[in-house]
Amino acid sequence: MLTDEIRDYANRSVLCWLATASDDGPSVSPKEIFACFGGDRIIIANIASPQSVQNIARDPRVCVSFVDVFSQRGWQLYGNAVLMRSGDAGFEERQAILQEMAGDAFRVATLFDVTVAKANEILAPSYRFKKDVREADMREGAMRTYGVKSRD
Ligand SMILES: Cc1cc2nc3c(=O)[nH]c(=O)nc-3n(C[C@H](O)[C@H](O)[C@H](O)COP(=O)(O)O)c2cc1C
Repeated sequence: MLTDEIRDYANRSVLCWLATASDDGPSVSPKEIFACFGGDRIIIANIASPQSVQNIARDPRVCVSFVDVFSQRGWQLYGNAVLMRSGDAGFEERQAILQEMAGDAFRVATLFDVTVAKANEILAPSYRFKKDVREADMREGAMRTYGVKSRD
């Protein structure tokens, strides 16, 4: 389910956005501490996400999306989430990965474990509607927009 390409874009994306559902409607919030895990999972640190916790408890269906803002491509991943904590099978292994990413800044006491069932690619419209668009050109354009220079 999680192809090498999806993993690559997840690694290159600074943030993911976790969409959940409540009785009042949809909710979405950014998460910086996230990683692909195993063949079909995304794990996300719960540091300050009370609404996501509440929503997932009543409806496990989620959508996680991320884009590499420079190449302007990414993925939408749909699946079911559970909140994991110390004592749950597989928690320690997942927690160690996210804690390493968080460093000393935050303690990852609980995490969202998302089993991905469907993946849709996200492309900036230019890829679809402009002729002969190359990823390198998109990167250059985004770097100009954000005012950043490549280290290479
Ligand atoms: C750049 C950025 C990165 C964030 N990363 C995380 C994260 O990895 N985990 C987390 O729980 N909250 C993270 N947050 C905070 C949540 O997005 C924020 O507390 C949000 O209000 C939680 O909403 P929710 O309860 O609806 O999920 C981040 C916020 C920002 C702006």
